[in-house]
Amino acid sequence: MLKPEQPIGIFDSGVGGLTVASAIKQQLPGEKMIYFGDTAHLPYGDKSASTIRAYSRRIADFLLDKQVKVLLIACNTASAVAYRDLLEYVGDRVHVVNVIDPAVEFITRHYPNETVGVIGTKGTIQSGTYERKILGHKKGIRVRSLATPLFVPMIEEGFVYDDISNAIIRSYLSSETLREIKSLILGCTHYPIIKNQIRKFFNFQVDVIDSANAVATYLKNILSRHQLLNDADQPGHLFYVSDYTEYFEAIARMFFEERLNLVLQNIWQET
Ligand code: DGL
Repeated sequence: MLKPEQPIGIFDSGVGGLTVASAIKQQLPGEKMIYFGDTAHLPYGDKSASTIRAYSRRIADFLLDKQVKVLLIACNTASAVAYRDLLEYVGDRVHVVNVIDPAVEFITRHYPNETVGVIGTKGTIQSGTYERKILGHKKGIRVRSLATPLFVPMIEEGFVYDDISNAIIRSYLSSETLREIKSLILGCTHYPIIKNQIRKFFNFQVDVIDSANAVATYLKNILSRHQLLNDADQPGHLFYVSDYTEYFEAIARMFFEERLNLVLQNIWQET
Protein backbone atom coordinates (compact mmCIF):
# COMPACT_ATOMS: atom_id res chain seq x y z
CA MET A 1 0.00 0.00 0.00
CA LEU A 2 1.37 3.42 -1.03
CA LYS A 3 1.91 6.08 1.64
CA PRO A 4 2.05 9.92 1.46
CA GLU A 5 5.62 10.02 2.90
CA GLN A 6 7.00 8.16 -0.10
CA PRO A 7 8.88 10.29 -2.66
CA ILE A 8 7.94 11.15 -6.22
CA GLY A 9 10.25 9.54 -8.79
CA ILE A 10 11.03 11.68 -11.83
CA PHE A 11 13.19 11.05 -14.84
CA ASP A 12 14.43 12.66 -18.01
CA SER A 13 17.47 12.35 -20.25
CA GLY A 14 19.09 15.40 -18.64
CA VAL A 15 18.21 18.85 -17.32
CA GLY A 16 14.82 19.10 -19.06
CA GLY A 17 12.83 17.36 -16.36
CA LEU A 18 14.15 19.89 -13.86
CA THR A 19 11.70 22.40 -15.37
CA VAL A 20 8.90 20.04 -14.29
CA ALA A 21 10.52 19.31 -10.91
CA SER A 22 10.73 23.03 -10.29
CA ALA A 23 6.98 23.50 -10.97
CA ILE A 24 6.26 20.59 -8.60
CA LYS A 25 8.37 22.24 -5.93
CA GLN A 26 6.24 25.41 -6.28
CA GLN A 27 2.88 23.66 -6.25
CA LEU A 28 3.69 20.78 -3.91
CA PRO A 29 6.40 22.08 -1.54
CA GLY A 30 5.92 19.21 0.92
CA GLU A 31 6.76 16.46 -1.59
CA LYS A 32 10.17 14.83 -1.67
CA MET A 33 11.49 14.18 -5.18
CA ILE A 34 14.00 11.67 -6.43
CA TYR A 35 15.21 12.77 -9.84
CA PHE A 36 17.12 10.67 -12.34
CA GLY A 37 18.82 12.43 -15.27
CA ASP A 38 20.07 9.89 -17.79
CA THR A 39 22.90 12.13 -18.98
CA ALA A 40 24.93 9.11 -20.12
CA HIS A 41 22.35 8.48 -22.86
CA LEU A 42 21.40 12.01 -23.78
CA PRO A 43 19.81 12.94 -26.16
CA TYR A 44 16.82 10.59 -26.22
CA GLY A 45 15.20 12.43 -29.11
CA ASP A 46 17.03 10.68 -31.93
CA LYS A 47 17.07 7.15 -30.48
CA SER A 48 14.70 4.37 -31.48
CA ALA A 49 11.49 3.72 -29.55
CA SER A 50 12.71 0.29 -28.42
CA THR A 51 15.91 1.79 -26.99
CA ILE A 52 13.96 4.46 -25.08
CA ARG A 53 11.62 1.77 -23.75
CA ALA A 54 14.56 -0.27 -22.47
CA TYR A 55 16.13 2.79 -20.79
CA SER A 56 12.79 3.75 -19.23
CA ARG A 57 12.24 0.28 -17.77
CA ARG A 58 15.69 0.23 -16.17
CA ILE A 59 15.18 3.72 -14.70
CA ALA A 60 11.74 2.65 -13.43
CA ASP A 61 13.40 -0.27 -11.61
CA PHE A 62 15.92 2.11 -10.05
CA LEU A 63 13.23 4.51 -8.86
CA LEU A 64 10.91 1.74 -7.67
CA ASP A 65 13.80 0.48 -5.53
CA LYS A 66 13.81 3.92 -3.93
CA GLN A 67 10.19 3.32 -2.88
CA VAL A 68 8.58 6.08 -4.94
CA LYS A 69 4.80 6.43 -4.94
CA VAL A 70 4.58 7.93 -8.43
CA LEU A 71 6.72 7.55 -11.51
CA LEU A 72 6.70 10.77 -13.50
CA ILE A 73 8.10 10.58 -17.01
CA ALA A 74 9.39 14.17 -17.23
CA CYS A 75 10.48 13.66 -20.82
CA ASN A 76 8.22 14.08 -23.84
CA THR A 77 10.18 11.62 -25.95
CA ALA A 78 9.82 8.84 -23.37
CA SER A 79 6.19 9.91 -22.74
CA ALA A 80 5.51 9.60 -26.48
CA VAL A 81 7.12 6.22 -27.10
CA ALA A 82 7.42 4.44 -23.74
CA TYR A 83 4.39 5.44 -21.62
CA ARG A 84 2.15 2.50 -22.62
CA ASP A 85 5.01 0.07 -22.16
CA LEU A 86 5.88 1.48 -18.72
CA LEU A 87 2.25 1.34 -17.63
CA GLU A 88 2.24 -2.33 -18.46
CA TYR A 89 5.66 -2.95 -16.90
CA VAL A 90 4.92 -1.13 -13.64
CA GLY A 91 1.37 -2.49 -13.36
CA ASP A 92 -0.38 -1.43 -10.17
CA ARG A 93 2.82 -0.98 -8.14
CA VAL A 94 2.82 2.84 -8.44
CA HIS A 95 1.06 5.59 -10.43
CA VAL A 96 2.64 6.45 -13.76
CA VAL A 97 2.27 9.99 -15.12
CA ASN A 98 3.47 11.34 -18.47
CA VAL A 99 3.98 14.97 -19.53
CA ILE A 100 1.91 14.88 -22.72
CA ASP A 101 -1.61 14.25 -21.37
CA PRO A 102 -1.64 17.34 -19.08
CA ALA A 103 -0.44 19.54 -21.98
CA VAL A 104 -3.09 18.11 -24.30
CA GLU A 105 -5.79 18.74 -21.69
CA PHE A 106 -4.64 22.34 -21.31
CA ILE A 107 -4.51 23.06 -25.03
CA THR A 108 -7.87 21.50 -25.85
CA ARG A 109 -9.50 23.49 -23.05
CA HIS A 110 -7.95 26.85 -23.94
CA TYR A 111 -7.55 26.70 -27.73
CA PRO A 112 -10.47 24.53 -28.90
CA ASN A 113 -10.74 25.95 -32.45
CA GLU A 114 -7.29 27.34 -33.14
CA THR A 115 -4.19 26.42 -35.11
CA VAL A 116 -1.70 25.09 -32.61
CA GLY A 117 2.00 24.40 -33.17
CA VAL A 118 3.99 21.67 -31.44
CA ILE A 119 7.79 21.52 -31.38
CA GLY A 120 9.78 18.65 -29.94
CA THR A 121 12.48 16.08 -30.59
CA LYS A 122 12.43 13.88 -33.69
CA GLY A 123 11.20 10.97 -31.58
CA THR A 124 8.26 12.95 -30.16
CA ILE A 125 7.22 14.55 -33.45
CA GLN A 126 7.62 11.39 -35.57
CA SER A 127 5.53 9.42 -33.08
CA GLY A 128 2.56 11.71 -33.87
CA THR A 129 1.45 11.39 -30.24
CA TYR A 130 0.53 15.05 -29.69
CA GLU A 131 -1.46 15.27 -32.89
CA ARG A 132 -3.28 12.01 -32.21
CA LYS A 133 -4.15 12.92 -28.63
CA ILE A 134 -5.20 16.50 -29.44
CA LEU A 135 -7.42 15.44 -32.35
CA GLY A 136 -8.78 12.61 -30.22
CA HIS A 137 -10.10 15.26 -27.80
CA LYS A 138 -11.03 18.09 -30.17
CA LYS A 139 -11.47 17.63 -33.88
CA GLY A 140 -11.63 21.42 -34.47
CA ILE A 141 -7.98 22.08 -33.64
CA ARG A 142 -5.41 22.24 -36.45
CA VAL A 143 -2.05 20.87 -35.33
CA ARG A 144 1.25 21.87 -36.98
CA SER A 145 4.19 19.78 -35.77
CA LEU A 146 7.88 20.50 -36.23
CA ALA A 147 10.96 18.64 -34.99
CA THR A 148 13.69 20.92 -33.62
CA PRO A 149 16.41 18.37 -32.83
CA LEU A 150 19.30 20.78 -32.23
CA PHE A 151 17.60 22.47 -29.28
CA VAL A 152 18.42 19.76 -26.71
CA PRO A 153 22.19 19.50 -27.38
CA MET A 154 22.30 23.29 -27.68
CA ILE A 155 20.67 23.71 -24.26
CA GLU A 156 22.70 20.92 -22.62
CA GLU A 157 25.87 22.65 -23.88
CA GLY A 158 24.72 25.90 -22.30
CA PHE A 159 24.08 27.79 -25.56
CA VAL A 160 21.10 29.83 -24.38
CA TYR A 161 20.24 33.52 -24.70
CA ASP A 162 23.17 34.15 -27.06
CA ASP A 163 23.80 34.63 -30.79
CA ILE A 164 24.24 30.92 -31.53
CA SER A 165 20.93 29.92 -29.97
CA ASN A 166 19.16 32.90 -31.55
CA ALA A 167 20.36 31.77 -34.99
CA ILE A 168 19.25 28.15 -34.43
CA ILE A 169 15.87 29.24 -33.06
CA ARG A 170 15.33 31.55 -36.04
CA SER A 171 16.33 28.88 -38.51
CA TYR A 172 13.83 26.32 -37.15
CA LEU A 173 10.93 28.54 -36.16
CA SER A 174 10.83 30.50 -39.45
CA SER A 175 9.49 27.30 -41.01
CA GLU A 176 6.35 27.57 -43.15
CA THR A 177 4.84 24.83 -40.95
CA LEU A 178 4.42 27.27 -38.07
CA ARG A 179 2.80 30.07 -40.07
CA GLU A 180 -0.55 31.20 -38.64
CA ILE A 181 -0.24 29.38 -35.32
CA LYS A 182 -2.00 30.97 -32.37
CA SER A 183 -0.13 29.05 -29.71
CA LEU A 184 2.96 26.86 -29.58
CA ILE A 185 3.37 23.85 -27.29
CA LEU A 186 6.91 23.31 -26.06
CA GLY A 187 6.75 19.54 -26.54
CA CYS A 188 10.09 18.90 -24.85
CA THR A 189 10.85 19.55 -21.21
CA HIS A 190 14.19 21.16 -22.10
CA TYR A 191 12.57 23.98 -24.06
CA PRO A 192 11.14 26.05 -21.17
CA ILE A 193 14.76 27.04 -20.52
CA ILE A 194 14.64 29.04 -23.79
CA LYS A 195 10.95 29.98 -23.54
CA ASN A 196 11.54 33.74 -23.49
CA GLN A 197 13.84 33.55 -26.48
CA ILE A 198 11.09 31.72 -28.37
CA ARG A 199 8.44 34.22 -27.27
CA LYS A 200 10.68 37.03 -28.46
CA PHE A 201 11.20 35.34 -31.83
CA PHE A 202 7.42 35.51 -32.36
CA ASN A 203 7.35 39.13 -31.15
CA PHE A 204 5.19 37.96 -28.25
CA GLN A 205 2.31 37.39 -30.72
CA VAL A 206 2.12 33.62 -30.13
CA ASP A 207 1.20 32.04 -26.78
CA VAL A 208 4.10 29.79 -25.87
CA ILE A 209 2.82 26.94 -23.70
CA ASP A 210 5.15 25.20 -21.32
CA SER A 211 3.52 22.15 -19.77
CA ALA A 212 5.43 22.13 -16.45
CA ASN A 213 2.67 23.84 -14.46
CA ALA A 214 -0.05 21.75 -16.08
CA VAL A 215 1.90 18.60 -15.16
CA ALA A 216 2.33 19.74 -11.53
CA THR A 217 -1.43 20.45 -11.24
CA TYR A 218 -2.25 17.09 -12.80
CA LEU A 219 0.06 15.34 -10.33
CA LYS A 220 -1.47 17.23 -7.43
CA ASN A 221 -4.94 16.01 -8.46
CA ILE A 222 -3.79 12.40 -8.70
CA LEU A 223 -2.09 12.50 -5.28
CA SER A 224 -5.08 14.19 -3.70
CA ARG A 225 -7.53 11.70 -5.26
CA HIS A 226 -5.53 8.82 -3.76
CA GLN A 227 -4.89 10.53 -0.41
CA LEU A 228 -1.17 10.55 -1.09
CA LEU A 229 -0.39 14.26 -0.64
CA ASN A 230 2.57 14.97 1.62
CA ASP A 231 3.24 18.18 3.56
CA ALA A 232 6.72 17.52 4.92
CA ASP A 233 8.66 20.51 6.23
CA GLN A 234 11.96 20.03 4.44
CA PRO A 235 11.50 17.23 1.99
CA GLY A 236 15.22 17.05 0.95
CA HIS A 237 15.27 16.15 -2.75
CA LEU A 238 17.78 13.76 -4.27
CA PHE A 239 19.25 14.06 -7.75
CA TYR A 240 20.95 11.24 -9.59
CA VAL A 241 22.74 11.44 -12.93
CA SER A 242 24.14 8.56 -14.94
CA ASP A 243 27.06 10.77 -16.03
CA TYR A 244 28.29 13.93 -14.36
CA THR A 245 27.98 17.18 -16.31
CA GLU A 246 28.77 20.62 -14.94
CA TYR A 247 25.76 22.05 -16.72
CA PHE A 248 23.38 19.66 -14.98
CA GLU A 249 24.74 20.73 -11.64
CA ALA A 250 24.52 24.43 -12.54
CA ILE A 251 20.90 24.18 -13.72
CA ALA A 252 19.87 22.05 -10.75
CA ARG A 253 21.37 24.67 -8.45
CA MET A 254 19.52 27.39 -10.32
CA PHE A 255 16.14 25.66 -9.79
CA PHE A 256 16.86 24.28 -6.31
CA GLU A 257 18.86 26.88 -4.41
CA GLU A 258 19.19 24.64 -1.37
CA ARG A 259 22.27 22.48 -0.83
CA LEU A 260 22.16 20.07 -3.72
CA ASN A 261 22.22 16.33 -3.12
CA LEU A 262 23.67 15.27 -6.46
CA VAL A 263 24.83 11.67 -6.84
CA LEU A 264 26.57 10.12 -9.83
CA GLN A 265 25.15 6.65 -10.33
CA ASN A 266 25.69 4.81 -13.55
CA ILE A 267 22.90 2.28 -13.24
CA TRP A 268 23.89 0.83 -16.63
CA GLN A 269 27.22 -0.47 -15.41
CA GLU A 270 25.64 -2.24 -12.47
CA THR A 271 23.51 -4.60 -14.52
N1 DGL B 1 13.61 16.49 -22.36
C1 DGL B 1 13.29 15.41 -23.20
C2 DGL B 1 11.99 15.58 -23.91
O1 DGL B 1 11.11 16.20 -23.33
C3 DGL B 1 14.37 14.68 -23.85
C4 DGL B 1 15.11 15.32 -24.94
C5 DGL B 1 16.24 14.50 -25.47
O2 DGL B 1 16.97 13.91 -24.66
O3 DGL B 1 16.40 14.45 -26.69
O4 DGL B 1 11.78 15.12 -25.00
